Amino acid sequence: MPAKVAVIGSLNMDLVTRAPRLPRGGETLIGQSFATVSGGKGANQAVAAARLGAQVSMVGCVGNDAYGRELRGALVAEQIDCQAVSTVEGSSGVALIVVDDNSQNAIVIVAGANGALTPAVIGCFDAVLQAADVIICQLEIPDASVGHALKRARELGKTVILNPAPASRPLPADWYANIDYLIPNESEATALSGVPVDSLDSAKVAAARLIALGAGKVIITLGAQGSLFASGSRLEHFPAPVVKAIDTTAAGDTFVGGFAAALANGQDEAAAIRFGQVAAALSVTRAGAQPSIPTLSDVQAFKPS
Ligand code: RIB
Repeated sequence: MPAKVAVIGSLNMDLVTRAPRLPRGGETLIGQSFATVSGGKGANQAVAAARLGAQVSMVGCVGNDAYGRELRGALVAEQIDCQAVSTVEGSSGVALIVVDDNSQNAIVIVAGANGALTPAVIGCFDAVLQAADVIICQLEIPDASVGHALKRARELGKTVILNPAPASRPLPADWYANIDYLIPNESEATALSGVPVDSLDSAKVAAARLIALGAGKVIITLGAQGSLFASGSRLEHFPAPVVKAIDTTAAGDTFVGGFAAALANGQDEAAAIRFGQVAAALSVTRAGAQPSIPTLSDVQAFKPS
């Protein structure tokens, strides 16, 4: 039986345009394409964990609109248990995304129904948390709900992963004791630690700071530079596989979901990080959030160049 992963987080419909470059303030650009794509950091991580070998349950909220039906349907199609995805009055979460010719993106999210995922709603689905081996949270739902989920996951003795995305400020200090693996990218590590992260060396300083704040283990994802793993005073750099990127949307989500699935299925941390990195590398070679996430056989067939 595959191990069980529960994801407590967001579902967004991504409204994606491609343009030669990201627009400046006050500027109008002519785009090259437009697509609506299922996304949201929580849902993307759920899809990644499911495609990469875990049995997944999603805890979240969608609106009673066409986007909500499509977002739920996308997860059901991946055999993700959606009994804990509630449909609420109003609009589903959306993300406005511009992807440029250098494969970089800029994203604005509007929470919509994700804001209705309160601690009380999560409490209604405690059985999902109880059944999981690994529990993953991000920051696209209310802070009080993240704090509640982390605390409950810790009480239940689960392996707890927090992907602090998006982050613009330090985390509440009392969250750290409830996190086994904190997985920020460079800008999130900067916001959480106060250390500007723009290189492997600065990531090492930030990781040490996050460990000092109480995070169990830290993995800072560094895009094409790979990732830095920190546990106590141990620091290890994992270089990224080299690929030609066309769209980095959901690369971090793919890493988190892949890492969680591998860890839940018994791989050690180093193997789980390498597995997540291959999955993330494959995701950047394809467009969109959920459509870009590879399957287990894609990862197993990957040959480094
Ligand atoms: O991490 C990528 C995701 O961020 C997108 O799918 C978008 O919905 C935003 O949540």
